[in-house]
Amino acid sequence: MNYDIADESLVEKGIVRIKWAAGFMPVLANIKEKFEKEKPLKGVSIAACLHVTTETANLMETLKAGGAKVTLCASNPLSTQDDVAAALVKEFGIPVFAKHGADRETYYRHIEETLKSGHDITMDDGADLVSTLHSKYKSELNKVVGGTEETTTGVVRLRAMAKDGVLGYPVIAVNDSLTKYLFDNRYGTGQSTIDGILRATNYLISGSNFVVFGFGWCGKGVAKRASGMGARVIVVETDPVRALEAAMEGYDVMPKRKAAEIGDVFITVTGDKWIITEKEMQVMKDNVIIGNSGHFNIEIKLEDLEKISNSKKEIRENVTQYKLKGGRRINLLGGGRLVNLSCAEGHPAVVMDMSFANQANAAVYLTREAPKMDKKVYTLPSEIDHEIARLKLKTMGIEIDVLTKEQKKYLSSWGEGT
Ligand code: ADE
Repeated sequence: MNYDIADESLVEKGIVRIKWAAGFMPVLANIKEKFEKEKPLKGVSIAACLHVTTETANLMETLKAGGAKVTLCASNPLSTQDDVAAALVKEFGIPVFAKHGADRETYYRHIEETLKSGHDITMDDGADLVSTLHSKYKSELNKVVGGTEETTTGVVRLRAMAKDGVLGYPVIAVNDSLTKYLFDNRYGTGQSTIDGILRATNYLISGSNFVVFGFGWCGKGVAKRASGMGARVIVVETDPVRALEAAMEGYDVMPKRKAAEIGDVFITVTGDKWIITEKEMQVMKDNVIIGNSGHFNIEIKLEDLEKISNSKKEIRENVTQYKLKGGRRINLLGGGRLVNLSCAEGHPAVVMDMSFANQANAAVYLTREAPKMDKKVYTLPSEIDHEIARLKLKTMGIEIDVLTKEQKKYLSSWGEGT
């Protein structure tokens, strides 16, 4: 078995942590049990490019239980948990190409090694695997049955590819399932971003001016949690509807230049590039904290930070302190990479349970339906989405009512008035 990981001796620690996460992923466990009996992915090779975490390890085990031949590489150089990689290889016999802190060249070599292990289905988080396949291995596109995509940024890239007519096979946007983005993006990113900030800095959120750039589902989650911890939350948003939502939630909404002058903590979560640039950095107060929770490290313009600084120092684990020419300090978290995964452990297992239930279901759906699908981006059918929600509620011990026959009929008719 081919693989490339940092430290095989971490296997025992990895096993314990993967099992801990499994304890909070009952929906995925339910699917795994079914997969073990029915083997719906028998003989299917899956090239997965995901954050190498304890939760992903449980997804890998589930796919393998369903009969798939899985290979995993990292979807971000700083999110890889080396103990998990060791356990996957040594205990679960799953090839992994991932090392925490890998340089750019190694990161892309790992993606290519993963593709070489087979790719009936691609399972991506951010679309780096898909874009490598479409640029370097074009001749192999027709062998791919279909793909899945985990995150908003990846879906944006894939929709752009479909629009340009270059997407080589159908892809399911797992991100767009209700049981994914309403929970993972909002509560997962919300909590784990705060978790990352706290682990890195031990800063007191209460009483701070906490600036959130972007009020999508992730931004909503971050703002809510920061507010819940006593911060004065400021939202910077370019979309008028979202900005209005933020204002009606009670947050201050203002242009980024103004927010830059008063913020203590700044978190970007827009999915777009160059949100915090020299212009904003130049007016920030002394000793501010800046971090990014969007998928790629492009939201904080690091070249600008380097340019306007005299020196930089790793002042704490995952905190680089830049000294600006006038003497002010800017503290950058996790090198500008997703703060929740580089400074903490990513979204908690409770929420990844639903995201990865969607991934497992999407893989099976593709093996059945892909021949009938176009080279476009799809969302999973709502019956699957609702079934995942039903299962999650059940595992939480929550019961709900069902509509009566009359109520259902009323909702599908137009004749009855007052
Ligand atoms: N994305 C965000 N959090 C994650 C986690 N814990 N595992 C895998 N992917 C993630």
